[in-house]
Amino acid sequence: MKIAIIGAGYVGTTTAAAFAHHGHEVFVADNNQEKIKAFQRLKVPFYEDGLEEALKEFIQKNLLSFTTDIKQIIQGCEVIFLAVGTPSLTTGEADLSYIKEAAKEIGRYMNDYKVIVIKSTVPVGTVNYVQEVIQDELKARKSNIPFDTVSNPEFLREGKAMEDAIDPERIVIGSDSERAETIMRTIYKEFRCPNIMCTSPKNAEMIKYASNSFLAAKISFMNELARLCDVLGVDVAEVSKGMGLDSRIGHQFLQAGIGYGGSCFPKDTKALAQIALQRNLSLGIVEAVCAVNETQAQWFLEKAENALGSFSGKQITVLGLTFKPDTDDIREASSLKIIDYLVKKKALISVFDPKGMEHVKKLFPGISYKTDPLQALTNADAAIIATEWKQFTELDWKSAKKVMAQPYIFDGRNSLDPEVMKNLGYVYMGVGRPP
Ligand code: NAD
Ligand code: UGA
Repeated sequence: MKIAIIGAGYVGTTTAAAFAHHGHEVFVADNNQEKIKAFQRLKVPFYEDGLEEALKEFIQKNLLSFTTDIKQIIQGCEVIFLAVGTPSLTTGEADLSYIKEAAKEIGRYMNDYKVIVIKSTVPVGTVNYVQEVIQDELKARKSNIPFDTVSNPEFLREGKAMEDAIDPERIVIGSDSERAETIMRTIYKEFRCPNIMCTSPKNAEMIKYASNSFLAAKISFMNELARLCDVLGVDVAEVSKGMGLDSRIGHQFLQAGIGYGGSCFPKDTKALAQIALQRNLSLGIVEAVCAVNETQAQWFLEKAENALGSFSGKQITVLGLTFKPDTDDIREASSLKIIDYLVKKKALISVFDPKGMEHVKKLFPGISYKTDPLQALTNADAAIIATEWKQFTELDWKSAKKVMAQPYIFDGRNSLDPEVMKNLGYVYMGVGRPP
């Protein structure tokens, strides 16, 4: 099939690669010219393992192309996916202006029957809203071209985006139209997906917000519990291991740390809480999930500061800047809160991250960016691990100790073995682990 995708971000491009992988012809449009130029030069303007190679392959096989000509791809394809951003407004609500703009363009240019599929994460009711926006545009053109709108939320994880997009664990299709559902099933026919669920658009929209908020809740639950474990001398990592042995609980998303970041959990939890507040409902659990996350890094930093005596004038190394390993994405990363705090406390800051330094340089030009972990740790009074890159978990910590001024390790991701670190002579502090 010929598929159009509007929005050449993480989701739009990985979805495009997955569709091309499964034999479709995919056309991706973005209104950011620089981004499109980069893709046309076979360069991915962000880091995602395996994506650049896949895009090169499919572009060369003429299964994939990038353009700024949105009109052309709208007219040339029966199915149009919207993968534009839905960032937080200051109120916490999702900003639907990019969705609205793209929907208007579809209404303006569509020439025959279309299925418009919303892949972006959007509040319940957005599929109907997009339908109305398109309808208004058609009315203005005095046209009554038929079309359907569908919800098809995306569940990929950054860092594993390609494997998640090519072989997803679940595909959720929210459609009120049999014709559109048949087309959606045809698109996904070649995917090796064990669970294809067809439901209403509103249900599909809620499944996305509920999934992200539930995963965030698991993390915030463990982070809050870590604060109690800390006082009681209990190891939260052992607790999560023991809890996860119950298959009803499972091991995933129980790792306590300095909070979840990224472009989605913080925004989607806030948006869900806000959707409820607009209906005079308060989702106490979701609000608590957000509140724990807001304060987790600060709680950890205050403990670290007490252990060290003070951050003022001390040489502090932050290892890891991205919101998780295997990405260059620093959106809502806990490292930013850490650097901000250290700057206020007048620490001397050195940082290293395998992929995220360029982005952080723009926010904090005054700190010292190093080319490898050992260089970053040289003369450090303490190291704070903010992201569990394997460059840090597999570091030669014996050699690292020789270059550090003082042997303090504040492990914000519980990524190192406390016993090993203590045996090497470090003063090790994790999240919710006994000293
Ligand atoms: P992104 O910011 O990386 O990309 C969005 C792209 O849309 C940008 O390149 C922007 O220029 C483009 N755009 C905006 N308005 C446009 C318009 N009118 N016409 C053409 N292009 C336009 O965003 P993303 O991370 O890919 O996320 C997209 C959506 O998918 C969001 O709703 C997000 O919540 C959701 N999502 C993201 C992930 C993820 O891991 N990043 C996973 C699942 C769902
Ligand atoms: C998350 C979801 O996992 C995806 O299913 C979803 O599609 C996506 O959001 C989205 O909607 O954008 P992602 O943000 O890429 O994916 O990354 P995750 O692996 O979920 O990690 C999110 C954050 O939680 C990271 O900061 C990570 O460090 C933190 N985390 C994760 C923990 O603190 N503890 C854990 O046990 C797991």
